[in-house]
Amino acid sequence: MGAGSSLSLLRLLVGAGADEAIEELPLNRYVHKVSKEQIRRPDPRVLATSRENTSSVASGVANDKEFLASSPRTIETLEELRMSVEAFDGCQLKRTATNTVFADGNPKADLMLIGEAPGAEEDRKGIPFVGKAGHLLDRMLAAIDRDRGSAYITNVLFWRPPGNRNPTAEEIDVCLPFVKRHIALVQPRVLVLVGAVAAKSLLDLTEGISRIRGKWYSYDLGGVDTPIDTTAIFHPAFLLRQGNKKRETWQDLIAIRTRLSSHQERG
Ligand code: URA
Repeated sequence: MGAGSSLSLLRLLVGAGADEAIEELPLNRYVHKVSKEQIRRPDPRVLATSRENTSSVASGVANDKEFLASSPRTIETLEELRMSVEAFDGCQLKRTATNTVFADGNPKADLMLIGEAPGAEEDRKGIPFVGKAGHLLDRMLAAIDRDRGSAYITNVLFWRPPGNRNPTAEEIDVCLPFVKRHIALVQPRVLVLVGAVAAKSLLDLTEGISRIRGKWYSYDLGGVDTPIDTTAIFHPAFLLRQGNKKRETWQDLIAIRTRLSSHQERG
């Protein structure tokens, strides 16, 4: 095969979302029939590191639910949480990601936003919301007189799903205890869930984002003094495709600003 056709084949693969080399040698999937059992079998390299970390988690799926449910709750500081997330080998996405994307902004802010997962740009830089959607999120924050000095930003997933595919329920479940601890440590006055994945997984709802947004929820984490005022908005990546939803988002942003002001007045 000539260099030109190799390059166009590579472009075709990247265009189809296969932009990460996971195995050292290519697998001909027309020849190999992989059983479900093989897919779920833990990678021994992941198991070895998890055992060293005593986390007993493998293959992207928690096989020690108790560990996942209890361990992050004992973490007392954001720095400890960041280190635990960086050392955690229980999510397969980490194997293909370049960086762990933990958070950005001011952890002392009264406003916390949680998105879905890092994209390509975020994965490269290790910072959430720095690509096109991130620039729109910055403009949305500016519309309510906020920036990354007065807001704290993270995601439900700390690693980029290859090719920006949708995260699986297992990947979300395995990261959620860390995300909940993250919220409990920041204790924002107002929590904004950015997009359907964050809204559904944290509020444990099955409706679509169009039904979830525009309402307020009392998010009770347990261990936090008072439930947190929580709402959801359309994801900026969705708004970039569906400009007609900006009007509703503007109303949501105004409601967030009003809620923040009422907290400031109460002191
Ligand atoms: N989309 C997200 O949900 N999070 C990011 O960090 C970037 C894009």
